[in-house]
Amino acid sequence: MTTPRIDRVLKEGEIGSSLEVRGWVRTRRDSKQGFSFIELNDGSCMGNLQIVVDADVPGYEDSIKDVTTGASVAIEGELKESPGKGQRVELQATSLRVLGTTDPETFPLQKKRHSFEFLREIAHLRPRSNTFGAVTRVRNVISRSIHNFFQSRDFVYINTPIITTSDCEGAGEMFQVTTLNVDRIAEISTKIDYAQDFFGKKASLTVSGQLEAEIYATSVGPCYTFGPTFRAENSNTTRHLAEFWMVEPEMPFYELPDDMDLAEAFIKTIIKDVLEACPEDMEFFNKRIDNTVLESLQNVLDNDFIRLPYTEAIELLEKCDKKFEYPHEWGRDLQSEHERYLTEEHFKQPVILYDYPRTIKPFYMYCNDDGKTVRAMDVLVPRVGEIIGGSQREDRLSMLETRMAECNLDPKEYWWYLDLRRYGSVPHAGFGLGLERMVQFVTGMTNIRDVIPFPRTPKNADF
Ligand code: 4AD
Ligand code: MG
Repeated sequence: MTTPRIDRVLKEGEIGSSLEVRGWVRTRRDSKQGFSFIELNDGSCMGNLQIVVDADVPGYEDSIKDVTTGASVAIEGELKESPGKGQRVELQATSLRVLGTTDPETFPLQKKRHSFEFLREIAHLRPRSNTFGAVTRVRNVISRSIHNFFQSRDFVYINTPIITTSDCEGAGEMFQVTTLNVDRIAEISTKIDYAQDFFGKKASLTVSGQLEAEIYATSVGPCYTFGPTFRAENSNTTRHLAEFWMVEPEMPFYELPDDMDLAEAFIKTIIKDVLEACPEDMEFFNKRIDNTVLESLQNVLDNDFIRLPYTEAIELLEKCDKKFEYPHEWGRDLQSEHERYLTEEHFKQPVILYDYPRTIKPFYMYCNDDGKTVRAMDVLVPRVGEIIGGSQREDRLSMLETRMAECNLDPKEYWWYLDLRRYGSVPHAGFGLGLERMVQFVTGMTNIRDVIPFPRTPKNADF
């Protein structure tokens, strides 16, 4: 007897075949004629398998009372054509085993709609709900699509370190890693001697694997790193996490336009893959979460991304009559409201802004001849805003040294990074896509806390 997952049973289960299914009970209804209907879900898909259990099935009498919402069961049976509407097949049970009971009085995940805030408090049970099951499956397909996209283009997957002693983005938003007894130090001294620390110097969790990816791009060729990154920015927004996953490709011999082409193809491929692999989950998001999602994703696939220099974006914002909360002027970073105005209201499609002022971007970006801007690009999409940040890298040693001085960085700390410009330097470029922002964009989920299994945000690291 086979034990297939329920998605397989619903899609391709053969009428008349015998099989066993295992999963968690969504509902049970007892008929007056003395049999029961069970709706069973095993997390493999949105749909439940309907199971008919007659009263004479072995196990029925003893255990049917324990078949309550949330209980786990294993049921053998024969697959039948379903007379009911909405499903192709149902299982006629031949045996019933309850694996784990659930106390209906205390089980928090009842068969009704719960608020996302409440579900965050039960992050250990929320993946059993429809929405989080769907988010989890879509997130998985996005991760697979990311690997497929780069692997099919012969990019090499590399693993960059999680613990680091350099701040790639230079924003000073790093979580420190230490084995020093900080309580004790506070008692006896005001100064910390990092030479005594585990790594012999101040170390942190990485904000980006880019600098190390550059090492590999300039040795093995196009490569990508894909892992968790950490930012101690104290921003309690629907788009920021303290721990998030980022995929960062890095390409030798690429200049900024090549970087933009790759980013556009990348986003479109992920969307196509999700629409193809998860039609049922996407239908759910469109119906229950945001009924513009499918249309807006199709719109992304059907059109070229707009490419606009930062300077022209500022001019557009100046000309428009919308009132913004934050000011915008040349030399300031755009706020999310400005980005969303451009992509949602003005262009109504993804926009790649490029050539940003060098004063608001990190030290590693290529300086344009105008002396004022760098070859940076941000991809902005409706509903989310910035989804990708990238750039052509500064490959001229003296220019990089100038930029590091401007950013108050000690060249001694970055000696190995400078060496890449000293020995066989080449033009190169790359970008970073935030996985959670991509999941938000594809699913229409508004809060980033609801697209990662266990969100880490200021004052919250439960589970
Ligand atoms: O624009 P960022 O900071 O770029 C970098 O880190 C570069 N080193 C990437 C590169 O060129 N290799 O971050 C890249 C992306 C953002 O566009 C956003 O999607 C995501 O990472 N991101 C966050 N996602 C969730 N929470 C946060 N706090 C995020 N910060 C950035
Ligand atoms: Mg950015």
